[in-house]
Amino acid sequence: MRERSGDDERQIVGREAELAALRGFLGGHAIAFVLSGGPGIGKTTLWEGGIAAARAEGLRVLVTRASSAEAQLSFAALSDLLNDVDEELGLLPVPQRHALEVALLRAEPFGAPPEQRAIALGFLNSLRSLSEHGAVLVAIDDVQWLDPASAEVLVFAARRLERADVRFLIAKRPARATALERALEPRGIERADVGPLSLGAIRRLLSERLGLSLPRHVLRRLVDATLGTPCSRSSSAGRWPSAARPRSARTSRSRTAWRRSWERESHGWERPCGVCCSPSRWTES
Ligand SMILES: Nc1ncnc2c1ncn2[C@@H]1O[C@H](COP(=O)(O)OP(=O)(O)OP(=O)(O)O)[C@@H](O)[C@H]1O
Ligand SMILES: [Mg+2]
Repeated sequence: MRERSGDDERQIVGREAELAALRGFLGGHAIAFVLSGGPGIGKTTLWEGGIAAARAEGLRVLVTRASSAEAQLSFAALSDLLNDVDEELGLLPVPQRHALEVALLRAEPFGAPPEQRAIALGFLNSLRSLSEHGAVLVAIDDVQWLDPASAEVLVFAARRLERADVRFLIAKRPARATALERALEPRGIERADVGPLSLGAIRRLLSERLGLSLPRHVLRRLVDATLGTPCSRSSSAGRWPSAARPRSARTSRSRTAWRRSWERESHGWERPCGVCCSPSRWTES
């Protein structure tokens, strides 16, 4: 799993307000920061920026990126979070340590499967002992896809962390609050709704990623077509940005003429996926 380094933080285009809010969170009192927004809008990019900032400030960061493909794999997220944590597990009472190690597939089960409560207590106490050496950040991307077994353990811990210096950085698609958010709410959650990138930021992104400099009217149309989403893969893959097509281009002939002019004006960058990805995902609609 590759994380952004401190240097990578500079590769984030625009988003100054969100990055400042993330840095403020790291120095503040809220227990959690939640980034939410639609597909491809830039949540993970900011979440990685938050991780880089936390590491730069010396926080210990535990990371998991949930995915829909792994949502049914029990304890997948917990295994990611505790991937580099060994010493603290050794300090746990034996039943908790063994239960946790079985859940993480680091030990053989003896007899019956471990109790969920023992696993949850083991995780809670691991977080507590990690935080005795300095602040800890639990970073979860795409929390909506957290596997239920890990989610339960996280909720159990979130309700009991009290004074331990453990915070949460969460990214999610817009949806109702998750059980984890509800558990964290009483100790303060800061939120950022990640919206469209500005025209200027998109111009920079195109220039830095693709070496492209589009005429302003083409850029404007592109921003309108993609709604300022840096990567609209999931919603519009396989289509021309028809919203960028002028209304006058209704017939097949005028659409072809428009397409040619788009190709010419965009210097052959003919099939944009949002504004940052490989052009090859696009076909004519
Ligand atoms: N501010 C930005 N600066 C530079 N690149 C960006 C920025 N925002 C997004 N991108 C790029 O756009 C693409 C999509 O961004 P990202 O993965 O962060 O979106 P997302 O909201 O997490 O998407 P999803 O909902 O699919 O998880 C990535 O390639 C990312 O590098
Ligand atoms: Mg993402």
